[in-house]
Amino acid sequence: MAEKKCAAKTTIRATTRKSVKKPTIEVLQNEQSAAFPVVKETKEPTVETKRKILFVASEAAPFIATGGLADVIGSLPKAIAKDPSYDVRVVLPLYSDIKPEFRRKFSFLGNIFTPLSWRNQYCGIFTCVENDVTFYFIDNEYYFKRTGCYGYYDDGERFAFFSKSVMEILPFIDFYPDVLHCHDWQAALAAIYLKTIYCKKEKYSFIRAIFTIHNIEYQGKYSLDILGDLFGLDEEDKGLVEYDGSINLMKGAIECCEQISTVSPTYAKEIKSAHYAHGLEDIILKNEGKLTGILNGIDVTSYNAETDKALFANYSAEDLDNKAVCKAELQKMLGLPVREVPVIAMITRLVSHKGVDLVQSVIEDILHEDIQFVVLGTGDGAYENFFLDLSSKYEGKVSANIAFNGDLSRKIYSGADIFLMPSLSEPCGLSQMIASRYATVPVVRETGGLYDSIKPYASGGNGFTFASRNPYDMLYVIHEAIDLYKKPDEWKALLKKVMTTDFSWQRSAEEYKKLYSTTVAMPF
Ligand code: GLC
Repeated sequence: MAEKKCAAKTTIRATTRKSVKKPTIEVLQNEQSAAFPVVKETKEPTVETKRKILFVASEAAPFIATGGLADVIGSLPKAIAKDPSYDVRVVLPLYSDIKPEFRRKFSFLGNIFTPLSWRNQYCGIFTCVENDVTFYFIDNEYYFKRTGCYGYYDDGERFAFFSKSVMEILPFIDFYPDVLHCHDWQAALAAIYLKTIYCKKEKYSFIRAIFTIHNIEYQGKYSLDILGDLFGLDEEDKGLVEYDGSINLMKGAIECCEQISTVSPTYAKEIKSAHYAHGLEDIILKNEGKLTGILNGIDVTSYNAETDKALFANYSAEDLDNKAVCKAELQKMLGLPVREVPVIAMITRLVSHKGVDLVQSVIEDILHEDIQFVVLGTGDGAYENFFLDLSSKYEGKVSANIAFNGDLSRKIYSGADIFLMPSLSEPCGLSQMIASRYATVPVVRETGGLYDSIKPYASGGNGFTFASRNPYDMLYVIHEAIDLYKKPDEWKALLKKVMTTDFSWQRSAEEYKKLYSTTVAMPF
């Protein structure tokens, strides 16, 4: 008999399910009536009863980080694992850029061979446990012994191998999760392989999948010609991944996962419109019933002005005095005169969607004020040159640091007064939350996670905000911030409010746990 075809969508799933174990609940077989099992609460969750979550992602702090995704995968699993009824694990590629200080802690579990189309490739499995989270690293030097994480001609093949390996290692590590939680296009194929190939196997048939979109701009688009040869998918699965004449991996994951989430409630609304969805609005609208937005948190232990060793001096919301030391030392370090004027900072990738054009169009007006302006970041050459030219023109007033520098970023977060983040779109954004932790007042455009995390001062909020993509609206609120800075008591009260806003992961972790519960309760 031909093998049953697995469901791409929830309708045609395997029907061999026998029982579902729920965490913290023990099912006692009632001999008289197996149809009505007796359930009783247990005190300590056992390995068997824990809810199992497997994160699949292409980066995680502190091992390997190129952007906000790494911060999330470095902290969300940890926040969920604080709940003893969860068993949380993460799979990552073993890039050669993962430093020896981390590799030393890894143990080698063994290897398998990952089949992908006509290929059958070595897949080493390394592991380590950090903060109650088990990490697995997929080793294959042909794919991952390269500088950086992305940007290679064969990224599609590299992440197909990674995603297929995630599915293949489950018997080896003996871990079949209740929820496979995939992040961004690089992990999309794990969910696609689950729903097209692996769910035919009994042990995989219980796994539900969630796909989290961190940025809809990057979708993983490839020519349809490589559907079988490279991605190992059948012609009959073509419809699942095909979009607009190409393979679109993000679209495929959206179609086949039980739930989709994105990193803020406002971004979840925004991506239903063409303006924000980069062509995927129809797919999002079609699947909107499964879409939720959960605002990210940040690692409040790492970003803590009281303990952060990168700072020139430490301070707290109760005693802000040393923030002035941080500011004066920063000014010295950057060659700016040590003066009591508002320091406005931007720490950003210098790319268009971060709103750099808005800043460019009114920078002369901003600099008309008695302020200092500090920028840190890399990106498009034209923007880099613009800020470098500006710093020569306004020597002693503008400091342009064209670099990616974690230590300097913390010195700027703590030494500045105002943090400017006028993004045109921002799925969540972490910098506005980090700046807040260092009592630096955010000025943001009301989009995505910026809208959800920063509320206007005029209505009792924790920063300054503007709605339209109009540079003069931005200029207006920058002036409002500068004016308030000149009123020390009111400014200090705002700093306390900004610094004590709760951006911890706890709140978000609770929401993810609810999402996991909803997903696990869904019928196949
Ligand atoms: C992406 C988004 C950013 C978000 C981060 C983590 O980098 O662009 O807004 O904060 O992912 O979810």
